[in-house]
Amino acid sequence: MKYFQASCDYAELAKIYGTPLYLYDLDSIQEQYKNIKASFGGFKSLVCYALKANSNLSIINVLAKIGSGADCVSFNEVKRALLAGIPRYKIIFSGVGKEDYEIREALKAGILFLNVESEMELLRIEQIARELFESPTQTRESNIADCSGNSLAQARISIRVNPDVDAKTHPYISTGLHENKFGLDIQTAKRLYLYAHKSPYLNPVGIHYHIGSQILESSPLLESTHKILDLAKSLLSANIELKFFDIGGGFGISYNDETPFDMAGYISQIVRHIDALDLTAICEPGRFIVGNNGAILTRVLGEKRTSNKKFIIIDCAMNDLLRPSLYRAYHHVSYLGSGQGEQPDTNKTLEKCDIVGAICESGDYIAKDRELPICQKGDLLLIESSGAYGYSMASNYNSRLKPAEVGISKDKHFLIRDRETFDESVQSELRYLNNNKFSV
Ligand code: LLP
Repeated sequence: MKYFQASCDYAELAKIYGTPLYLYDLDSIQEQYKNIKASFGGFKSLVCYALKANSNLSIINVLAKIGSGADCVSFNEVKRALLAGIPRYKIIFSGVGKEDYEIREALKAGILFLNVESEMELLRIEQIARELFESPTQTRESNIADCSGNSLAQARISIRVNPDVDAKTHPYISTGLHENKFGLDIQTAKRLYLYAHKSPYLNPVGIHYHIGSQILESSPLLESTHKILDLAKSLLSANIELKFFDIGGGFGISYNDETPFDMAGYISQIVRHIDALDLTAICEPGRFIVGNNGAILTRVLGEKRTSNKKFIIIDCAMNDLLRPSLYRAYHHVSYLGSGQGEQPDTNKTLEKCDIVGAICESGDYIAKDRELPICQKGDLLLIESSGAYGYSMASNYNSRLKPAEVGISKDKHFLIRDRETFDESVQSELRYLNNNKFSV
């Protein structure tokens, strides 16, 4: 299965930028955004790209240019979105543990709304909004984005409702059950909407749910939609003027041979249901936009055989792509040949092997039991579907340096992040090295 469609000379890219190397097809990223947007037809909608999937500024920027909003889960992500050109009135801020300074900064920045995840957070937002809006040095900035005509000195919020529906995905990325830490149950949410409605500092403008990630079937999402719709209707009839119906993200892609989530079909159902309520639909896709449009180019370091296994050791490891180790996730790996620019010989004998990195853990693998041609040192492989939760979950484990990132558009390639250097990686520690306060 070949997912990464950008036309490029992998051998040349490896030569210019080195490996391991993250590659992104910027044109297909834009296409995928446009497909989602088109599914809404003429219906009022805002597609907020979930930055957590991949927060490279150039990727956010290509999406900003075609009208995307941003779903952020830290104030640093909000800053990234703003830097990359997403207007503040298209930014929403979610997350189960927002710090006070993040709430304050988000209110000052005048983003569209904050998604509230708990009662204590609602009260914190109210308190911080009160301090901000009553302070004589209050910034007027916070009010600019209010295009709804509502009172200006209020924090716009939405409540994340946990519908207690099983998303049928990996337990680590399932979020819509009451056993999960996310959102508020329907009764508590209703009580808090009524509270917020009365508060002079809060303006409940939206309702939100997100039950998990890499969801392939629409039935759990539709079941959730119905529950949240019932709540939205009862809030509207209590004169709570909701404006946004935020259906979250989580739309699954094909990594192996799965049928991708039927986004167009699902959205047509959503639109049908919320049409009568005069709400703007918001969705927060991350993986669906970037997942299959990114790949990692990696080189073979060599092979190793034990009595019953063959290992191909590559220069990419779990610090560069954590998903296989953390979720036993499948990523397709294709053989690209010797890296000298010739076409890979597909008639080469295939052998079963584990494709592993150099990290000191048996959990460090990229693929298990895959058929690959007999590889030589220096051969190139492509690890597919790494655009989402690849670089954004990368680390420096084993003091490895983070890879470079390259964007490809209209047959041209552009560096969009430098490969990390050793000097950069030790910079924040070096000046303490000779601090002998702790010397023995
Ligand atoms: N909105 C909220 C509130 C979320 O929590 C998430 C993802 C998204 C949107 C975007 O979900 P997406 O459309 O990308 O599925 N590291 C995991 C995925 C974690 C997803 C966390 N939340 C992985 O590699 O599969």
